[in-house]
Amino acid sequence: MDKLLIQGGVPLKGEVAMSGAKNAALPILCAALLTAEPLDLMNVPHLNDISTMLRLLGEMGVTVRMDEADGLSLDASGLNNPVASYEMVKTMRASILVLGPLLARCGEARVSLPGGCAIGARPVDQHIKGLQAMGAEVTVEQGYVHAKARRLKGARICTDMVTVTGTENLMMAACLADGETIIENAAREPEVVDLANCLIAMGAQISGAGTDVIRIRGVDRLHGAAHAVMPDRIETGTYLCAAAVTGGDVRLLKTSAAYLDTVVDKLMDAGCDITVERDAIRLVAPPRLKAVSLRTAPYPAFPTDMQAQFMALNCIAEGVATIRETIFENRFMHVNELMRLGANIQIEGNNAVVRGVDHLEGATVMATDLRASASLVIGGLVARGETLIDRIYHLDRGYERIEEKLARLGASVRRVR
Ligand code: EPZ
Repeated sequence: MDKLLIQGGVPLKGEVAMSGAKNAALPILCAALLTAEPLDLMNVPHLNDISTMLRLLGEMGVTVRMDEADGLSLDASGLNNPVASYEMVKTMRASILVLGPLLARCGEARVSLPGGCAIGARPVDQHIKGLQAMGAEVTVEQGYVHAKARRLKGARICTDMVTVTGTENLMMAACLADGETIIENAAREPEVVDLANCLIAMGAQISGAGTDVIRIRGVDRLHGAAHAVMPDRIETGTYLCAAAVTGGDVRLLKTSAAYLDTVVDKLMDAGCDITVERDAIRLVAPPRLKAVSLRTAPYPAFPTDMQAQFMALNCIAEGVATIRETIFENRFMHVNELMRLGANIQIEGNNAVVRGVDHLEGATVMATDLRASASLVIGGLVARGETLIDRIYHLDRGYERIEEKLARLGASVRRVR
């Protein structure tokens, strides 16, 4: 099992390019199921979750071609097996995103229930409720969701809570439904908008993406298209936090601050100097960060996927910060590991109170989930001495070539087998 060995205390300096957004690419790969024509994608990140999704689509009969310019072409004309097996789904819960497209294109789908994960139970009841509202017969048996519908019908759906992949699943299913579907209480995340833009390029009729009411007028079929995946705003925010804690000066390329307003605001509150360019963002860190409190909530509020990274930043900031996690019931797995580095954190329900210390000490720590592992990397970059992070397969799910990108910024980091 790979580990990451970090020698802390090096200020990050220089430039590095960000990758395409994992959480936009995953639903967009599933959108290929909606048409028999090729979907050509650019800026798809090279991540384990992406490879898993491509394997899953391959099992269904989708052919995948990579071209030399890092492009990806998916062809679902040979789609012949609308099943997502437990073996595949258990490694990546985002596999649930094939449910809506398979049902819309094939009239039936069998998708294993994702099961919980480290950060919470993460049920998919809203995905199922929405498909039933569109006329699907859905049963759950032996751990599989089995859905059938000769043709889905447009419906008015209001999800009980804001759900990103729930909104995406229903939006994709509605593209080929008979009539208009209105999704209320829709997720407004930029990745939902990126998916909508790709679907519109394929001939879908969608309006309101990015607001909490999305209207989709069903069409008989979608055609092929070409689409470039948006930059990864969470990867961008993660590197900004890493630069901030190490007293660095970095310029991140092929990205945008457009979707990071609350994260940029918090970094400026912490004392960072940030310069926003059209497709780059620069951060110059202060000599000592100031603690910043935050509360996670659906977009455009502070993203839950940046909570762990900001907790690491607060560990060595001046003052006391309160972090409230409102999206997932168990997203503080990084706290105990950060405390092994010398952090001072008290958990009270879904609140964490972080008292800044003047330095962290390197130690052996264990990654538990994707963003928790990112917070341990940030902790290790600023801790004195060596930090060894175990189980970094979590990191590889969402961060492309992380040790290479950090080394390019001057960090002393290497992967050990
Ligand atoms: C997406 O997960 C992201 N994953 C997550 O990123 C992100 O943390 C999350 O949205 C919130 O922004 C992808 O896009 C692939 P939700 P998703 O449905 O869609 C509850 C990462 O680090 N809920 O918005 O699964 C759910 O339990 C990952 O890249 C139901 O109860 O999250 C949670 O408490 C981690 N029933 C809340 O809603 C449902 O049917 C929000 O979940 C659906 C959701």
